[in-house]
Amino acid sequence: MSFSNIDATEKKVVTIAVLVSAGHLMLIAYAAMFLNISVPTCQPNEKLFTEPSISKVGPLRYEVHYVAKMWNFLPKKLLLPKGSTVDFYLGSNDVNHGFHINGTHVNLMAVPGVVNKATQIFRENGDYPIICHEYCGFGHQNMNAVISVSDKITEAVIEDSTQANDPKLELSASAKSGKELFGVKGCVACHNVDGAAGGVGPTFRGLYGRSEEMQDGLKLTVDDAYIAESIKEPIKKIVKGYNPVMPVLPVSEDEIKNITEYIKTIK
Ligand code: CUA
Repeated sequence: MSFSNIDATEKKVVTIAVLVSAGHLMLIAYAAMFLNISVPTCQPNEKLFTEPSISKVGPLRYEVHYVAKMWNFLPKKLLLPKGSTVDFYLGSNDVNHGFHINGTHVNLMAVPGVVNKATQIFRENGDYPIICHEYCGFGHQNMNAVISVSDKITEAVIEDSTQANDPKLELSASAKSGKELFGVKGCVACHNVDGAAGGVGPTFRGLYGRSEEMQDGLKLTVDDAYIAESIKEPIKKIVKGYNPVMPVLPVSEDEIKNITEYIKTIK
């Protein structure tokens, strides 16, 4: 059967489909060659990674490995000198996430078991927020990071704002485990550790020993018992100004103790 035997309507459909596909391919080629827009690529032979990292591969030229996980991007904050060219390598530690760098053409999916790549030149000073645009669970809407570009920065560096406690402070084994749980159990989605206002839940900075007023007017001081109760029965006592949205998470007594030890270190 040759093309001329096909029904006229079907022929039209096939022709349009082929033309549209060819048009798309030409637009991608045009974007890559003439507009200097990097075309996102999957790197099938790239080694998988679970930790963020940065390496300098030339003058103003960097490779940054980004990790997406519920519900955070790491590195949380990247400082770049103006004019930097960055190869972004993106992996996921759990489910599918989106990865869009606002103000750029970088728009990738973070897919477990796969490394995706895009390249971007940062010609202008400013903050470039990274957002997750793929629904990935309870903390999806809080999943973000930022890239700060400035001509005052001379060398690219990762500034990890999830490390609110003094980096020189040696954490006890218990607090260290609590710090891991803080990420693994997803607390990080709603509770920040840098004291910033506007979170879904109260900040953990300075939480231990703080006086809090509850919605019903009850005043209490945050101690071990209150933290344990808030994890086990999250909506029993709600701090004034917040919503009863915290889920009951599978956390053991030991884990609660460790999380409490970690909270004590965030002053
Ligand atoms: Cu990650 Cu939405």
